[in-house]
Amino acid sequence: MSLFSKDALVGKHALITGATGGIGYETAKVLAGMGAAITITGRREEVLQQLKEEILNENSDAKVLVVSADLTNSAELDQLVEAAESANGFVSHLVNSAGVLGNSAIVEDMTIEQLEKVMHVNYTVPILLTKKIYSTMKDRKEGSVVNVASLSGLRGTYGGTAYCGSKFALIGFTQSFALEAIQHGVRVNAVCPGYVETEMGKESIRKKGIKEGRSFEEQYTVANKSIPSGRISSPEEVANTIAFLLTDAAANIVGESVKISGGSVMR
Ligand SMILES: NC(=O)c1ccc[n+]([C@@H]2O[C@H](COP(=O)([O-])OP(=O)(O)OC[C@H]3O[C@@H](n4cnc5c(N)ncnc54)[C@H](OP(=O)(O)O)[C@@H]3O)[C@@H](O)[C@H]2O)c1
Repeated sequence: MSLFSKDALVGKHALITGATGGIGYETAKVLAGMGAAITITGRREEVLQQLKEEILNENSDAKVLVVSADLTNSAELDQLVEAAESANGFVSHLVNSAGVLGNSAIVEDMTIEQLEKVMHVNYTVPILLTKKIYSTMKDRKEGSVVNVASLSGLRGTYGGTAYCGSKFALIGFTQSFALEAIQHGVRVNAVCPGYVETEMGKESIRKKGIKEGRSFEEQYTVANKSIPSGRISSPEEVANTIAFLLTDAAANIVGESVKISGGSVMR
């Protein structure tokens, strides 16, 4: 069941990074179901094609452009924006969901290469991509951006220097840029999920289990029990929050970091 009307985003064009991952994949489906033309990107072409097929099976009139790109490659970043604009016109809605967890090394063990990779994908890339799209949003006085941050952007975790640092930085970008962009009719917000049922969520639980001497299944149970609501979030729940923030129903929500965490962190 969709929470949103089928024409909530008709005439709009949403670009979703990380569309081959759990959160981006569901977000693309929700936004296409609201009538937006979408451009979906990730490195795994076959997953993008599968997503496109799923969306077209639901609605054969949906406009879905697949562009596989490594976002750390500046030429591919340029080609992504060019292809998106030439196929679907002005990008009015941007979801920066691509991200990496990194190695969760403690500071003594961390290498500069590990730190820079996480910072580049999770922090620098969303800025570079936003920068390419924002000038047209600004000229047209229309646009909405949602950055997928994390609870790890709100409080530190053991071994989280690189990942937490990148997500704190992403929230810093969200808040600072929101102040610039709102003067031109463009809204910028972030979402902060706790554990989500995706590859990354499972990898994170697996790593924590290794540290605590527990199997994945044991740590998965502990993780669910540690959350006040009793369970980790689904990708659909994060996608619905992103979709809400992108619509005019959220017209006066600016620079926020909305948590989806079953009550894990409250502030
Ligand atoms: N899952 C969680 O528990 C959780 C919690 C809080 C926040 N988050 C955040 O939510 C966002 C989405 O995570 P997810 O759970 O959906 O993770 P996921 O399933 O592991 O997906 C990660 C996505 O990022 C893309 N990506 C990574 N490096 C890339 C690169 N160099 N170029 C292009 N795309 C790249 C991947 O695409 P390809 O592999 O196809 O390149 C994939 O689509 C991330 O920013 C993550 O930090 C996740």
